[in-house]
Amino acid sequence: MPNFEPTEQQTLIQRAARAYAERVLAPRADELDRRGTFPCESLSEAADLGLLGINVPEALGGTQAGAVAYSLAVSELARACAATTVAICVSNMVAEVIASFGTEDQRAEHVPRLCGGDYVVGGFALSEPEAGSDPGAMVTKAVRTDDGWVLQGSKCWITSGTHAGLFVVWARTNDSPGTRGISAFLVPGDAPGLSRGRPEEKMGQHGSTTTTVDFDEVKVPERALLGTEGGGFRVAMMALDGGRIGIGSLALGIGLAAFAKARSYAQQRHQFGRAISEFQAIQWPLADSDTELEAARLLLLRAAWRKDQGLPHTREASMAKLFATERAFQVCNRAIQVHGGYGYVREFAVERLLRDVRVTSIYEGTSEIQRLVIARELSRGR
Ligand code: CAA
Repeated sequence: MPNFEPTEQQTLIQRAARAYAERVLAPRADELDRRGTFPCESLSEAADLGLLGINVPEALGGTQAGAVAYSLAVSELARACAATTVAICVSNMVAEVIASFGTEDQRAEHVPRLCGGDYVVGGFALSEPEAGSDPGAMVTKAVRTDDGWVLQGSKCWITSGTHAGLFVVWARTNDSPGTRGISAFLVPGDAPGLSRGRPEEKMGQHGSTTTTVDFDEVKVPERALLGTEGGGFRVAMMALDGGRIGIGSLALGIGLAAFAKARSYAQQRHQFGRAISEFQAIQWPLADSDTELEAARLLLLRAAWRKDQGLPHTREASMAKLFATERAFQVCNRAIQVHGGYGYVREFAVERLLRDVRVTSIYEGTSEIQRLVIARELSRGR
């Protein structure tokens, strides 16, 4: 059974993330939301603190602190700024997938640069316009040549698409149907033929740019193939198992921030001659939020703990993401209700938190996909 008390190392990472979040992210979060500028400076400081390779071996420039530490750190970051946090999460996922599936040369070439911020951040190029929940339907192709591969196609919804210095790109390498015949490639952001679209105008997480990335006869060498030819789908799924713990933790952080604001506002705000926190109408939603956030935290820690133990964690990661993201949305919504009209204006930040949390039950697999994954694992007897 997992022990939910963090170890000394996990506590240290959590504290470092909190200190960075309070010092660097929190003061910039509102401006980032208003201006939608990519947080290059904050990300460079995250790299200096080892936050871009939390679950990556030290020998490759990472912090090697494990999935539990990662989950704790991500929640701390997201309490301050979800937009910067998602860029950090995706970059961690890219560093980890290369550390796990790369050859010695690929690991040595790319992982230290990702951890050290030389690539700014990494990008995860899986989705396509007609292949979102169903990445097995992708049409981007990679054709083998004498000295490598040529990529042709378009990806969309790419987090950090404007600035990522390295992408993991999935493409079809043979005519096998569906998920078979998909391979993963490491493609530098400055590869000739690679172009990035304009950032999408999103509801929230404005500081995180989301773009299309197009590949027009992009040539990569043979050594750019990550994992086995035709084995790319499994690589993506395994990366997403870990990624979903990260997104659940991010949602938890947003929920914790909204809850803290609602709690403190309820104590300060007086109506009918007393603090509104004295009314059951306010106490009950706060009690529900507190309970749900705690349950989300435990589900996330359990999934992360299983990952750290090398145990199967597909089902647990999906459960944790499903629950944490859906409940965090409710927590943010209740926080607005507690604030009344003030919750609906920008000045009080809970409005941003609700906009920021909404996407967490969409990216890295919608809630519907998480339910599908859980149901499939159930039918397999897990
Ligand atoms: N671990 C290891 N292998 C796995 C796996 C896992 N978690 N899940 C599936 N596989 C393997 C299967 O065993 C199977 O292997 P074989 O071919 O050898 O039998 C193969 O992968 C195909 O699996 P399925 O038949 O289950 O595939 P499917 O087409 O039915 O899809 C799915 C399964 C779970 C629905 C998957 O398509 C999915 O996760 N969809 C959601 C995609 C997603 O999350 N996209 C997010 C984009 S990235 C993003 O958002 C990042 C960002 O920028 C914020």
